[in-house]
Amino acid sequence: MDKIVITGGRALKGEIEISGAKNSAIKLMALCLLTDEPLELTNMPDLMDTRSMAQLLEHLGVKHARGPGARMTLHAPDLAHTEAPYDLVRKMRASFNVLGPILSREHKARVSLPGGCAIGARPVDLHLKAMESLGAKIDLVDGYVVATAKGGLKGAEITFPFVSVGATEHTMMAAVLAKGETVLYNAAREPEIIDLANCLNAMGAQIVGAGRSEIRINGVDKLSGVSHAVVPDRIEAGTYALAAATTGGKVRLANVRSDHLGALWPLIAQAGAKVTMDETGVVIERNPKSRLRPVDVETQAYPGFPTDLQAQFMAMCCLADGVSIIRENIFENRFMHCPELIRLGANIKVTGREAIVRGVKELRGAPVMATDLRASASLIAAGLAAHGETSISRVYHLDRGFEHIEVKLGNCGARIKRMKE
Ligand code: UD1
Repeated sequence: MDKIVITGGRALKGEIEISGAKNSAIKLMALCLLTDEPLELTNMPDLMDTRSMAQLLEHLGVKHARGPGARMTLHAPDLAHTEAPYDLVRKMRASFNVLGPILSREHKARVSLPGGCAIGARPVDLHLKAMESLGAKIDLVDGYVVATAKGGLKGAEITFPFVSVGATEHTMMAAVLAKGETVLYNAAREPEIIDLANCLNAMGAQIVGAGRSEIRINGVDKLSGVSHAVVPDRIEAGTYALAAATTGGKVRLANVRSDHLGALWPLIAQAGAKVTMDETGVVIERNPKSRLRPVDVETQAYPGFPTDLQAQFMAMCCLADGVSIIRENIFENRFMHCPELIRLGANIKVTGREAIVRGVKELRGAPVMATDLRASASLIAAGLAAHGETSISRVYHLDRGFEHIEVKLGNCGARIKRMKE
């Protein structure tokens, strides 16, 4: 197993190229199951999660290849299986989303209940209810969801009781080839939903309203192959922006959709960093000699502040001159980074869904453990700012979602290396 060792206390300076969005890429990959023509994805990140998805798709009969320039082609002329086994699905929760496309194409599917980051109970009840509304019969047998739709899926009106990114995307994927119209109410509005709809529409689907809470999908008979560029990763961009604000220095982020982080920029500015936008990038600048200011934040569905940046935001608040209150509204168990940040000298008290962060003057390096994907990123940011050596174990969490993190940060002057444990 690998660990990452950081000798911190240095400001970041340089430019970081942001990769394609992990959360978009893994769903886009599954779209190849909806057509017998090849699908090409560009700006594709090479991550553990995209590899896990490729492995699952390969099992289902998809031929895939990586090309130059972050390109991937996926082709499923026929499906070899309609089953997604536990060993392949447990690695990543989003792989559960193959259920809808398989069901839509083959009228039956058997998919293991998912795994993924341990940041809460994370059930899939909304996904299953949506599939039932589209006419599927669902049974739970030995840890598997067994779904059948004799005669195919049929359009329906579906109201989600609360916003779910995964359930919105999954229902869209299933409904594009269903007979008739599907209307989704209280749909998620994340940029990744728009990316998915753009790719599906280019393939011949008829989706209107992605990015708004009401989405209308007119079922079509067939989808074709296309080439589609994955949207830039707003969470990766936000992570590096927060790391730069935490350490101080000057970092330009290239290949960013700054409009996708509208909730973040004012808060970084409030904390004391200067944020400047240009056409394709964002510059984060802060004098490392000045103290950060405390900022309160609460996570919300898009366009609110993303839960996937909460841990990284907390790392920044640990060094602020005052008290920040951070509220997590999306997941019930997403403060696992707190005990690790405390090991670095942070002063954090968690009560229920709120963390009270009393800023300290400096953090000190220590051995810490990554507990989930985004928590790992917060430990990296804290380690970069901490004086002395921080070693982060279990970095496989990090490798699920951050492409070449030690190279990207190393190019900005960070003393960071990957080692065998
Ligand atoms: C996606 C993102 C994840 C992000 C999250 C919220 C991917 C691969 N992952 O996860 O990085 O943190 O959105 O922005 O895109 N829920 C249910 N029942 C369901 C579905 C969800 O109770 O059937 C709950 C979840 O446990 C959670 C909340 O709804 O508390 C929101 O989850 P959801 O938006 O579905 O997150 P994911 O799609 O899993």
